[in-house]
Amino acid sequence: MHAIIPVAGIGTRLRPFTHSLPKVLVNVAGKPILGHILDSLVAQGITSATIITGYKGDLVEDYVRSNYGLDARFVQQDEMLGLGHAIWVARESLADEPVLIILGDTVFDVDLSILATRQFSSLGVKHVDDPRRFGVVIEDGGYVTRLVEKPEAAVSNMAIVGLYYIHQPARLRVALDRLINENIRTKGEYQLTDALQIMVDDGEKFTTFKVEGWYDCGKPETLLQTNRFLLTKRSEMPTAPVGCVFVPPVHVDPAAIVEHSVVGPYASISKGAVVRNSIVRDSIVSDNASVADIALDQSIIGENAEVTGRFSTINLGDASVVRLSQ
Ligand code: UTP
Repeated sequence: MHAIIPVAGIGTRLRPFTHSLPKVLVNVAGKPILGHILDSLVAQGITSATIITGYKGDLVEDYVRSNYGLDARFVQQDEMLGLGHAIWVARESLADEPVLIILGDTVFDVDLSILATRQFSSLGVKHVDDPRRFGVVIEDGGYVTRLVEKPEAAVSNMAIVGLYYIHQPARLRVALDRLINENIRTKGEYQLTDALQIMVDDGEKFTTFKVEGWYDCGKPETLLQTNRFLLTKRSEMPTAPVGCVFVPPVHVDPAAIVEHSVVGPYASISKGAVVRNSIVRDSIVSDNASVADIALDQSIIGENAEVTGRFSTINLGDASVVRLSQ
């Protein structure tokens, strides 16, 4: 199985981190989002991938080439015209071998071996309470009959999570050609869901598979949630240096410096980062960032950023109440 990973987007919802990095290289639980995705693919035996780059694509390519021995092809999407357009740009990769399309901003925890025996294309889905932000599927008799992008009416709660197994990719290529040639857009963009609907209308059978482990990294708050989830799965615990306390779960890179600090729970301290005289919990401190004299909670500190707080001197009278905000 070949993987196709679209990562061309600008990642506006993850600014300011995406001012200097493409979204997929933003750090979560000690490595870039894309690192988690590729590690999972490689661990499950997928060794070839097409990566669709755009915004800061050279950084993505450098990262993959320097860290993975994958058979990787890079295809450039010059205009952000939607996910359907992104896959169309990479249409040379839609041939005979089945493909797995994976969105580049979600970390997933799925056993992909369930797909190996599938005779039909299959879409990863998850039940969500509010489907209005997602594409959803409507099923009948075990097969998908309709796909609706960001439904306004309550047609289905089964959201498409961004994992698409395409059994006969050449048929997707035909549907995408039609999408582009006939300029079929929804909400101004060429949607992958519209191409899949064309396939369904042409008689292609799609089943679904349940994905419970699906973690979005597209916004600061979801990035922190994903950080928490990934750390909870870790069994190894770094040893705190003398004068420090690590409260599990935490990730502290061996090449980070932590002095006189309490780190965790749910804190990730990346390589080259320095944390001194601080309390850091439920936060991400990215590569080479520096944190000193501060208590951080639910914070994301970008690469090479510096944050320094201060200690207060307070002479507090009996029964007084003071609440400090930073
Ligand atoms: P998103 O719309 O969530 O990502 O697309 P984005 O555009 O980068 O983020 P925001 O909305 O500006 O914050 C989901 C995935 O599809 C890719 C994105 O890179 C992301 O991995 N994508 C989306 C493309 O590669 N090309 C597109 O035209 C659209």
